[in-house]
Amino acid sequence: MSSPGGEHGDSASGTNRARELHRLVAGYQISQAVHVAATLRLSDLLADGPRSVAELAEATGADARSLNRLIRALAEVGLYVSDGDERFANTELGDAFRTDAPRSVAGWARFVGRPYHWQTYASLEHSIRTGENAFAAVHGESVWDYLAKHPAEQKIFDEAMTALSQVVTDEVVNAYDFGRFGTVVDVGGGRGMLLGAILSRYSSVNGVLFDQPGVVAGAHELLAATGVSQRCRVVGGSFFDSVPDGGDAYLLKAVIHDWPDAESVEILRACRRSMPTHGRLLLVEQLLDESPDPVRTAFSDLTMLVVAGGQERTTDEYRSLLAAAGFDLIGTVPTGSDVFVLEAAPAH
Ligand SMILES: C[S@@+](CC[C@H](N)C(=O)[O-])C[C@H]1O[C@@H](n2cnc3c(N)ncnc32)[C@H](O)[C@@H]1O
Repeated sequence: MSSPGGEHGDSASGTNRARELHRLVAGYQISQAVHVAATLRLSDLLADGPRSVAELAEATGADARSLNRLIRALAEVGLYVSDGDERFANTELGDAFRTDAPRSVAGWARFVGRPYHWQTYASLEHSIRTGENAFAAVHGESVWDYLAKHPAEQKIFDEAMTALSQVVTDEVVNAYDFGRFGTVVDVGGGRGMLLGAILSRYSSVNGVLFDQPGVVAGAHELLAATGVSQRCRVVGGSFFDSVPDGGDAYLLKAVIHDWPDAESVEILRACRRSMPTHGRLLLVEQLLDESPDPVRTAFSDLTMLVVAGGQERTTDEYRSLLAAAGFDLIGTVPTGSDVFVLEAAPAH
């Protein structure tokens, strides 16, 4: 039986639907191709204008014919444009993918295609069927223990976090007044991208950057480049033991979403123990119920399940989690980016 659109209409819309579905199915190919472009730094190499594939092959050490095929495919999704004769240039999107472009996600792209990460994501079905963290099932340990044993991957991961942080840093620093605190402790602060920006904005604020020893070891360069090293103490350790004392605000960006509820409460309680009664706890996270980019947040939630064993949460879920750790959620500040600042105070 045919629909009112008639057989021709049916077949045209059927073809479009098949194409749309095919694009969804092909997402993995695009992701890996973009990863390789970032790893070869193609957008960086095209910063000064069009170049031939032969030149790009020479600069990257890649096979010229295969590189041509890669760039041709990426031109179809809008990163590069051919000016004929096997010469390519950055499009606006390609230019924004330079490592040094403002808000560039190139560092993130260099991480997402890493073989160990793909192996993990290949076990998404395992996580969906069992509820278990795929990383532990595939690699036999947590992502944090794995990274600590693989310094080259740790570096790529930390640079990825720095890249993602840099996308939202201006918005977070503009949206929330960190200037009212004497000392801000950034717990699980990575290499200090956000803390560095806060200290750079407010010359009266001191900082403590706290993360695993192998992570903070790589933080000094960024803090020095931001000109805030003199006001920032760098401390290595585990937030399951304790976090540094002496902060007026404890900042955790993209940390609690890495963990299931029980571990999240442990981390938050460690902050509570180190915090004065007038202190503030500041979570910087995406929110499932308010996301300006629901696709990103919903897929980030899957990534948390698969990679770290955590989850994205709604405002109410954060409120309950905070209450279980002895905090009242007192405000949720939108930043205009994909993340919110959730402000909490010790419960009385
Ligand atoms: C998703 S990253 C976020 C990094 C940074 N806050 C940002 O937004 O760019 C989570 C951070 O938690 C840190 N982390 C994981 N386990 C930790 C532990 N037991 N103690 C301290 N930090 C830890 C990781 O090293 C990593 O830097």
